[in-house]
Amino acid sequence: MSLLQSFARMVPPPTFMQLPSVGVDVSDTSLKYMQFVPHYGRTVTYSITGWGDIDIPIGALDRGHVNDVKQLSQALAQVRERTGATFVRVSLPEERAYIFETEVRIGTPLSEIRSQLEFRLEEHVPISPREAFFDFQITTEVNNSLSVSVVVYARETIMNYYEACQLAGVTPIGFEVEAQAIVRATLPPDDDKTHMIIDFGKTRTGVGIVHAGHLLYTSTIDIGGSELSKAMRRILGNDVAESELTRIKNTEGLVTRRGNTQVYEILLAVVSGIKDEIATRLQYWHTREHDLETRRIQSIILCGGSANLKGVTEYFTETLGIPTVRGDVWRNVPFHQHAVPPMEKRFSYGYATTIGLALKHTV
Ligand SMILES: Nc1ncnc2c1ncn2[C@@H]1O[C@H](COP(=O)(O)OP(=O)(O)OP(=O)(O)O)[C@@H](O)[C@H]1O
Ligand SMILES: [Mg+2]
Repeated sequence: MSLLQSFARMVPPPTFMQLPSVGVDVSDTSLKYMQFVPHYGRTVTYSITGWGDIDIPIGALDRGHVNDVKQLSQALAQVRERTGATFVRVSLPEERAYIFETEVRIGTPLSEIRSQLEFRLEEHVPISPREAFFDFQITTEVNNSLSVSVVVYARETIMNYYEACQLAGVTPIGFEVEAQAIVRATLPPDDDKTHMIIDFGKTRTGVGIVHAGHLLYTSTIDIGGSELSKAMRRILGNDVAESELTRIKNTEGLVTRRGNTQVYEILLAVVSGIKDEIATRLQYWHTREHDLETRRIQSIILCGGSANLKGVTEYFTETLGIPTVRGDVWRNVPFHQHAVPPMEKRFSYGYATTIGLALKHTV
């Protein structure tokens, strides 16, 4: 979902929109980027010419809110230096998004839909319409109405990202909620089912619910991979290297073996906290959508670096009763000359958002 229209006056003319861009996923402590170069033939194929991870100083962002525009811009400037790109597509944090669904009459012109929605913002989100940027997607047709999904951000949230880009010398040609970008990377383009998207990262776990490719719900759980590390350090000691903790998470994780029961139990305690939070959201969703069988969640798609935790998909499948799989983040990338993904699978889960952004080649 592009938030571009919301501030069309500040961005380049439409022909620029089709230019290749770098997908940039901004988290609180780091930024990841992915650069695709398109090759135009009978169909478009892509070469992957750059990707990487750049640290952001602690405190520069707080749960998606930019406290220090300059520090974020310095990280973005490194993306420009490393890739040579001047156009970027940037993900926006789920923590700061408000999403709601509403209906408009069939046949309403697009410009009128926009003004109708503007009037309705106040009943749905705690931001005054003057302080809000919003965008919408028409999701389904019900009787004589169109169902519309609306995503809203505080103007200040987006302007901070916009200014950081400008300071860094890059032009943002699109902003998109993280979960919507993950959907583009991991689901078939014509998928018409309902899924939960879970981005199990480092500082937090993002939750999105998508129906027929449209994002209808987001929320955030304030537990991520760093909680797993913190818990393990209480048992293994403070001087264990983070790389060793990652190794244990990914090779032992939630699978019991003789000798590692303490680590197993502590990891399980953290992950069961996340599971309980997910269960609450599933219950909320299924209660809200109880009369629509098509809105029942069919599967959970897991992404983010912490999706590597061994046994986590089996654990969620069993305890939540919904089949959980790791996202196939390259499934929609037509590689140029049948190239293969440029990184090992375990590194790729954290790049789902950047891949989805880079795939959004035309607005
Ligand atoms: N192979 C791996 N590569 C990267 N991270 C891994 C890997 N295996 C496990 N992890 C864990 O994944 C977490 C990083 O995930 P990710 O890169 O998705 O987080 P992030 O996007 O930086 O943070 P946020 O939670 O703010 O979105 C770390 O806690 C790390 O221990
Ligand atoms: Mg992340």
